[in-house]
Amino acid sequence: MKAIINTSRKQGKISKYIYGQFAEHLGRCIYEGLYVGEDSDIPNKNGMRTDVVNALRELEIPVLRWPGGCFADDYHWRDGIGEKSKRPYMVNTNWGGVVENNHFGTHEFFELCEQLGTEPYICGNVGSGSVKEMRDWIEYMTFDGDSPLANERRKNGREKPWKLKFFGVGNENWGCGGNMRPLYYCDLYRRYSTFIRSYGDEPIFRIAGGPNADDAEWTETLMQNIANATEGISLHNYTYETDWENKGSSTCFDKNGWYSLMADSGRVESAVTLHESIMDRYDPERKIALIVDEWGNWFDVEPGTNPGFLYQQNTMRDVISAMLVLHAFHRHNDRVRMANIAQMVNVLQAMILTDGEKMVLTPTYHLFRMMKGHMDGERVDIDYASDEIDFGGKKIPKISVSASEKDGAMTISICNVSLDEDESVEIELRDGVYLSAGAELLTAVNMNDCNTFDAPDTVAPRALDVSLSDGILSLKLPKMSAAVITLK
Ligand code: AHR
Repeated sequence: MKAIINTSRKQGKISKYIYGQFAEHLGRCIYEGLYVGEDSDIPNKNGMRTDVVNALRELEIPVLRWPGGCFADDYHWRDGIGEKSKRPYMVNTNWGGVVENNHFGTHEFFELCEQLGTEPYICGNVGSGSVKEMRDWIEYMTFDGDSPLANERRKNGREKPWKLKFFGVGNENWGCGGNMRPLYYCDLYRRYSTFIRSYGDEPIFRIAGGPNADDAEWTETLMQNIANATEGISLHNYTYETDWENKGSSTCFDKNGWYSLMADSGRVESAVTLHESIMDRYDPERKIALIVDEWGNWFDVEPGTNPGFLYQQNTMRDVISAMLVLHAFHRHNDRVRMANIAQMVNVLQAMILTDGEKMVLTPTYHLFRMMKGHMDGERVDIDYASDEIDFGGKKIPKISVSASEKDGAMTISICNVSLDEDESVEIELRDGVYLSAGAELLTAVNMNDCNTFDAPDTVAPRALDVSLSDGILSLKLPKMSAAVITLK
């Protein structure tokens, strides 16, 4: 395959927030995955497990969404502050009916964000919470002056307000967040968002609960009724091996399962394009962001695990599909300005899996680490025509490439979807002078290989040989692989 990168033709910034994450009170994401409590034998700092935090810091995670998901519309923040032994218990009815002891609450979330060096994105409760509850939470977190709520925060150990930029007004309001009709949600949104006051120096960026997948009516109604009162609209789009009823196994799949997932990954871009076209009619200047705050691969849970915990393994299939989706977000960078893969640890397409004190990095973790050069880079125009793989009449591009430039360095990410054929790649770098090239490759011997606690490095990155001569970058991309090249 031949490609031309037109270095001087910039296509706008790829927001770093596209590489955001999501952590919900679901299964073992928060408890055990991230938070073990101060008294745990697992090494921790203020309750956050050190091994997981250290590994996640490598990803330079720009933003973290919390506390849900469906959990957000059942969450009452007052239950999660103050002396831990006095915090009320609750039943996590959305996720396995387990008892939630509220030991991880607002203070712990900000502590986690501080340890990770990430910005917080909090999703408020519209489904079962009151306007007062939401407005008070924001004052509690962000007000610096003398008020009963700010003083209560101080009494609970935090003198200075936290910085909070992103706030979601409910989650999946068409489903677990209240089963609302779009116009009803718009009225609620207008009411709740009126009381989202900005106490800090920076205004709060409000994110309205947006559509599921291709629900055009939801977006149309939001744009007609709340476009003047929101900075962002969310979109949720998960990928399955076939569909919601046939999610498939994360590791036991054949060639069909591989290509079927690749084809379904393309649905994310169709959904983005659809909602973008609706938003463009009302907001041609693209002031309102499309925030894809839940995306990723959703498979059947690992056999023998709690069905409400959404625990799944992770292979090269997840790596390639994630790169296809991230490239789609890059292409829509002037509208898609945040995305949060679901979820950070032990849930769905996770970065990290844990088992008691053991921890393993997934192939998706490695991909996110490799691609971080794109964060806040200027997307650069790239011309290429890839062969297509015919899967039951659906055409899947064999190769996907994206490039961006930041601080004089060019990041090029590229993947080969084919299970059978390697690809020779030649990229002409027009109008740019680069003296050195370094590259990392992620691939596996078998398509189903995954990292386990006994064999944690089965799918791990290694150096890839590339050549850079007379402005031409050449490389051999093995079948079912993903690579990231950095040029300086
Ligand atoms: O990420 C798991 C769940 O998927 C979230 O709680 C919900 O918002 C979505 O349906």
